[in-house]
Amino acid sequence: MITFEGVTKRYAGGTVAVADLDLEVPNGEITVFVGPSGCGKTTSLRMINRMIDPTEGRILLNGVDVATVDPPTLRRGIGYVIQQAGLFPHRKIVDNVATVPHLLRWDKRKARERAMELLELVGLDPGLAGRYPFQLSGGQQQRVGVARALAADPPVLLMDEPFSAVDPIVRTSLQDELLRLQSELRKTIVFVTHDIDEAIKLGDRIAVFKVGGHLAQVAGPATLLADPADDFVREFLGRDRGIRRLSLVTAGEVRLRDDNLIAERTDVVEARDRDAPWLLVLDKDSRPRGWARTSELPAAGTMAEAALTPYHGFGRDDSLRGALDAAVLSVTGLAVALDGDGRAVGTVSREDLLGGLHG
Ligand SMILES: Nc1ncnc2c1ncn2[C@@H]1O[C@H](COP(=O)(O)OP(=O)(O)OP(=O)(O)O)[C@@H](O)[C@H]1O
Ligand SMILES: [Mg+2]
Repeated sequence: MITFEGVTKRYAGGTVAVADLDLEVPNGEITVFVGPSGCGKTTSLRMINRMIDPTEGRILLNGVDVATVDPPTLRRGIGYVIQQAGLFPHRKIVDNVATVPHLLRWDKRKARERAMELLELVGLDPGLAGRYPFQLSGGQQQRVGVARALAADPPVLLMDEPFSAVDPIVRTSLQDELLRLQSELRKTIVFVTHDIDEAIKLGDRIAVFKVGGHLAQVAGPATLLADPADDFVREFLGRDRGIRRLSLVTAGEVRLRDDNLIAERTDVVEARDRDAPWLLVLDKDSRPRGWARTSELPAAGTMAEAALTPYHGFGRDDSLRGALDAAVLSVTGLAVALDGDGRAVGTVSREDLLGGLHG
């Protein structure tokens, strides 16, 4: 755990970059520092590994005041990733990744093996090991930056806007990759960004900073979106925070109805008795075929002969946003919940999906 205790940083010239910061960064989680430009995110981050020392207050790393640890020793346990990777241009990729092992005077072969293993871990072709940084794309360089930071297996990872220089598609895949890595590695990660969407996607906890280095709010993403502490945070989260909350809630918990599911072999006479304007017609394996309007069923026969309207499905692991999207796309206003084998397990209406948000 990283603890900021009354930390203030005043630069020469008088700028207060960070003002009396009290904050706890739990082990094994991603804590995101987010806020507008100049609000003290980078300064706060760099005080953790002593690239900058506080003017007042102290920072504890698992109970030890970092001011009492000499910087090289401290940094051995703290990986650091910056924007545009900051790779050494004249070193091959493999040597860039093995920077810290080389510093620690690991055996050459062991350092190289570790570097190759890490390239694979961050999703890079080990064939790139012999290239120089300029021969890689921006996204690939960023992955190398992450691999380099992980080389000595540090428990703590500091990341300062690591993905902000790449295009949105690469950025999304780097974010997904980081989440995948983190689910395996469980590092204590402090991640700086000024992008609230990135913060919400990556953060277990989000610390929102205001200019002047004041902490506006610390909370998990769902709480932050549901209950911003003040107008600054509300403004910073943007107008669509209600819609964005939908992405954080999984559809697995919504209550489904199944009295409007009907097998295709059912007689239309029986179907007309159902108290539902639309019936979802299922094939013999319980897979949906489409919606039939109860008021427009054929005079006789089975449901297999009814005219069908396309259905829109969602999985139980999808977010509420995915379920709502399905309901909005369907003329019936109903989304169909599907199990892993594509069988219908029930349906839910737009109204019930939205109502569930406040339940
Ligand atoms: N070496 C320095 N000397 C003087 N002032 C500094 C120095 N470094 C940063 N500052 C000032 O401290 C404040 C906080 O800077 P910091 O780099 O921590 O902000 P940030 O939140 O990381 O911003 P950005 O999102 O633009 O990276 C800013 O007003 C900045 O101008
Ligand atoms: Mg910064």
